[in-house]
Amino acid sequence: MIFKSLSSASEFAKSSGMLNSLAQIQRLKKEKNAVILAHFYEDGDIQDVADHVGDSYFLAKKGQEVESQLILLAGVVFMAESVKILNPQKKVLVPDLGAGCSLVSGAPYEKYLAWRLAHPEAICATYINSSAEVKAISDVIVTSSNAAKIVAAIPKDRPILFGPDQHLGRWLSQKLQRPMTMWPGACEVHVLFDAKRLAALIELHPDAVVIAHPECDQLVLQFAHVVGSTSRLLEEVEKNPAKKFIVATETGIFHQMKKNRPDAELIQAPVEDGTCGCNNCPYMKMNTLDKVVKALGSEKPEVTIPEKLRKLAQVSLDRMMAITNDQKVEWPERFISPTL
Ligand code: 13P
Ligand code: SF4
Repeated sequence: MIFKSLSSASEFAKSSGMLNSLAQIQRLKKEKNAVILAHFYEDGDIQDVADHVGDSYFLAKKGQEVESQLILLAGVVFMAESVKILNPQKKVLVPDLGAGCSLVSGAPYEKYLAWRLAHPEAICATYINSSAEVKAISDVIVTSSNAAKIVAAIPKDRPILFGPDQHLGRWLSQKLQRPMTMWPGACEVHVLFDAKRLAALIELHPDAVVIAHPECDQLVLQFAHVVGSTSRLLEEVEKNPAKKFIVATETGIFHQMKKNRPDAELIQAPVEDGTCGCNNCPYMKMNTLDKVVKALGSEKPEVTIPEKLRKLAQVSLDRMMAITNDQKVEWPERFISPTL
């Protein structure tokens, strides 16, 4: 009895704290004419307070288009950097500057540069999950929603370097029948989905549609009926009349899936250790409503990029935007290392 009232008292405190944060965010947004962009992997309360929620391509595009002077990006830092690179006049805030990504930390600039220098004749296609420095020495950026279109636009006679996600790269290479030299990086969250346990789950639910993000290992992807970006997976759940889906991507996406298909059963694909909760991205989950309030109030932490670096990184992002929007692009003949 005592436990029950204690837990309901703490739940009450938590929900009134949350209501307070939501009210403050609405006030600050109005006062400062700020726009909040959020990724699908954020907690549901952050997604609900955002003006726009989407995948990494959508967030970069929205960030390029918005008119407000102040943008808060609730996602991981490379997403906010992409907005700053494309729209440098805006002040871009994040709830937590520590929100990294294992693909970014697994592709340090010096090593990526050495890799490029070893293949100067190749076109280097780099996943948006990368640092601004790595973008600055890449020819074109891709996201999981436009990667196939972008790689298909690279002239057939040019070798391709693809990094830093080897699983996305392998999936693309097989899909497009295009050989690529792969950087050996991976997403620490998506590689945890377990193919053996997934096969057993599919046996239990033969009527389920299996959907997976291309950052998963190929042993997992081989079971997927649909492989795609977070927005593509969401679209599948929305439009496919099936009543059951097994979902191999980060848990935050369930928030929109449940909203769009309250009638469907959504089953998380299994990881090896079912008790670890490790299909949560620890970086995305560093962001909280409290940090959003603080960031909007103090206009900190702000994402800043030295102008020379920003301009260099913009070249590869601009090429991505152009190809995605069906425009023709020029490719450099060979790689010449810039001085950052
Ligand atoms: P999307 O572009 O599909 O949203 O993916 C971003 C990401 O970090 C996946 O782990
Ligand atoms: Fe990076 Fe993986 Fe987190 Fe996406 S889910 S932000 S790829 S660590």
